[in-house]
Amino acid sequence: MRQTTFAVSLISLALAATFSAGASAADIKIGVAEALSGGAAQYGVAIRNGFQLAADEINAAGGINGNKLQLVVEDEQGKKEEAINVFKKLIFQDNVLMVFGPTLSNSAQAADPIAQAAKTVAFGTSNTADGITSIGDYVFRNSVTEADVLPETIKMAVKKSGIKKVAVLYGNDDVFTKSGYDNFKKALGDLKIPVTTTETFAKGDVDFKAQLTKIKAGNPDAIVLSALLAEGAPIMVQARQVGLTVPFIGGNGMNSVKVFELAKDKSDGLYVGSPWSASNASPENTKFLKAYNDRYKTSPDQFAAQAYDGMYIAAQALKQVKLSGNLAADRTAVRDALPAVKWTGATGAFQFRRATDKSGKPAGYDAQQTPIVSVTQGTQFVIEK
Ligand code: ALA
Repeated sequence: MRQTTFAVSLISLALAATFSAGASAADIKIGVAEALSGGAAQYGVAIRNGFQLAADEINAAGGINGNKLQLVVEDEQGKKEEAINVFKKLIFQDNVLMVFGPTLSNSAQAADPIAQAAKTVAFGTSNTADGITSIGDYVFRNSVTEADVLPETIKMAVKKSGIKKVAVLYGNDDVFTKSGYDNFKKALGDLKIPVTTTETFAKGDVDFKAQLTKIKAGNPDAIVLSALLAEGAPIMVQARQVGLTVPFIGGNGMNSVKVFELAKDKSDGLYVGSPWSASNASPENTKFLKAYNDRYKTSPDQFAAQAYDGMYIAAQALKQVKLSGNLAADRTAVRDALPAVKWTGATGAFQFRRATDKSGKPAGYDAQQTPIVSVTQGTQFVIEK
């Protein structure tokens, strides 16, 4: 009898150990859909690095209530069709708890409705166009919108460079560059800054001399540029080649250290705004800069910083969720926990702000953060005050 009791106790102990080992080893699958090839990989690789760095730090510090984050990373190539395919794979085949990405607003506008319909959080860390979070209440982003940043960028450029009139150049076939144009136009109107010339380009264009020559004829004090890096960097180079030496005022797509690599000695005089700056010496940013440099042997940009903070923001929500094993319920629980997260990370103090859909009804969640305006000088973004 005593032996039986002892044996039963041993079995219970063994079962308990197996169960708890199994439970603590359970990974939390998080989808990462970013552009790791093509032109938008200028952003996507830094974003992937930011996620991986944060996830590894979180796991090393004990994970999410003892469970490890496991990233399922897919290349959406900066194309909307691929973003749709990758979202479907992550949500319906890999059964991830939530999805980060995609890199471009152009792709988010196409792919986020898949996540919304599947009641799975889509969390963008680089989408800054209008209307992305109008898609629905499962759509989140911690990237501050063009609407919030561009008026600040213009005001600072005007203050520092005595700008009285500007030319505008924008990509008219991309959700982000078009939204940047709309917001630039509104901000210029509000600030009563006349526009000398408005010119457009399309994705994949390589020669911008015709537009730049027309812009030069209008004699602007600055060029307002809504572009992604693939076109924006050659535009900066060719502007200098046609003798346009005035500053550029750019949107989020131009705010990357890659501009120094791509536009080389023609990269000076570009104003951009973002909550993140490499020069911010806060303890959180100092830790991030060192960890990123140590691991990737290169400097991060604001895309890496936004992704790094995005993973920590998600982790705060995940810690509040009691995972039930029912994927649909757990996905909704993540959506319910995210809006209340407040986090101070590499990009400073962060919280969400409710967005609305086209009819004014509550929809997804935008970032509530204060932008810092910088200007390029040498190979640095120098903070302007
Ligand atoms: N901010 C850019 C976009 O939204 C990268 O597409």
